[in-house]
This record gives sequence, C-alpha cells and structure tokens, in this order.
Amino acid sequence: MSLSQIKRAQLLNRRWLPLAVGLMAIMFALGCYDSNTGDANIGGAINFKLPAFPETGSNRVQVFTEMHYQPSYRTQESPRLLPPDGSVPITGAEVVYASIDEYKNLVRTSSDVVSGQKLFTVNCQVCHGQNLDGTGPAAAYMVTNGPVPANLRLDLTKNSTDGELFGLISCGGRYFCNSVLQGGESQSPMPEFRRLLSEEERWAIVAYIRGAIGGQ
Ligand code: HEC
Repeated sequence: MSLSQIKRAQLLNRRWLPLAVGLMAIMFALGCYDSNTGDANIGGAINFKLPAFPETGSNRVQVFTEMHYQPSYRTQESPRLLPPDGSVPITGAEVVYASIDEYKNLVRTSSDVVSGQKLFTVNCQVCHGQNLDGTGPAAAYMVTNGPVPANLRLDLTKNSTDGELFGLISCGGRYFCNSVLQGGESQSPMPEFRRLLSEEERWAIVAYIRGAIGGQ
C-alpha cells in the first residue's frame, strides 16, 4: 500500500466526517459557526460544538440565508449618502407656500393627461373612485372616522384653479391644507402628495382631473 493510499484509507475511517460535513452545511444554511472555538449556533436557539480549527486563523462567520438581514440601507432610510455640501439641485427646490391661496395663481406646467390618468389610478382612485366622485373602494371604510374622500366633480373643486388643485394635492386635501403648509398635522386620510409624487407628476394629475371635471 502506498503512502497516499494509507492516508486515504485513514480519512475514510473517520466516520464522523460525513456527519460533521453535513452539520456544517446546515450551519452555513441557517446559522453561524466559529472555526476558532467550534461554537455553533442555529437560529439563535440551538447551540453546540463542532470541531474547532483555530490554526486557520479565520474569524467567526455569520451566515445569512436571506439578503435582507444584511446591513444595508433601503431607499429613504437614514443614514443616507448626502450630496456634497453646498450642492444645488439643478431643477431648483420646490417652493412650498404658506397657504392654499398662494397656490391659486400657479400655472400648470404639464398637459400629460395620459400619465396623469395612470398616476390617478394608482394613487387616488382607491379613495376618490374611478369616476372621481369620491366613491373609491376605501371610501366605505372612512365614514365614521374623519373626513370622507371628496367628490371631485362638485363645484367647489371644479371652480378651483389649476394652481389650487396642485396645492390641494400637495398638502393632502382642503380641510387641513393651511395647517399642513404651516408645519401642522393633518387629520385627513389623504396623504400629502408633495412627499410622494414629483411636481411634474402632480401637475400631470391636475391636467387629468381638469380634463375629466371641466371648469376653470
Ligand atoms: C386615503 C384616501 C385618499 C387618497 C388616497 C387621496 N385622497 Fe384626496 N381626499 C381625501 C379626503 C378624505 C378628502 C376630503 C378632505 C379634505 O379635503 O381635506 C380629499 C380631498 C381631496 C381634494 C380637495 C377637493 C376640494 O375641492 O375640496 C382633492 C383635489 C383631492 N383630494 C385630490 C386627490 C388626488 C389627486 C389624489 C391622488 C394623487 C388623492 N386625492 C388621493 C382622501 C384621499
């Protein structure tokens, strides 16, 4: 028997080897294993010892089975990388006025009715309804708790200027608009869309609503 054959036979005689390899495979799938001490842990609950290999000098490995456990930042999540000091957005920051009256004279900058309709379907229809009359599927759940979604076909909305509609969408409806613009809180279920949609998107929605309800 040659030397290498003897070595191979010795290796095969180690009955624990397949078991250890199997356990380590499970560790890699579910938990962590410290090769210096042999400490192994599955799911934070099951602790036991595996053979230690301190001579490798490697560190404790934390094995993640799902990527979302990794330390990473999601969009809108702090801390974020900020633009360098003194950067100026090339489009200019959005001006937020202090009251809905100040929005009245703004001139609509989009006539993209097609995008406006798509955006309305995604963001508004659930409350204001496909027909813009305030009968979206969520409206039924709001009858007892605060204001109900406005019927956008009434004169109040129809007689509002484009700028006013833009302001109402930006601040989340009429009732609490001024207080929201002055930093207060809204009791309305309608979100402040200036935080959710770009200026261009809100103007496109105004174009769609104006086309649908007529008026000013
Ligand atoms: C979660 C429900 C909800 C969603 C989503 C919602 N709204 Fe509203 N909206 C309301 C409620 C409730 C009111 C009435 C209360 C108020 O005006 O403050 C309202 C009021 C309004 C008004 C004021 C009408 C007027 O003349 O007084 C406008 C305009 C409006 N919504 C447009 C939109 C648009 C456009 C979207 C989508 C970008 C949208 N809303 C999404 C609930 C919602």
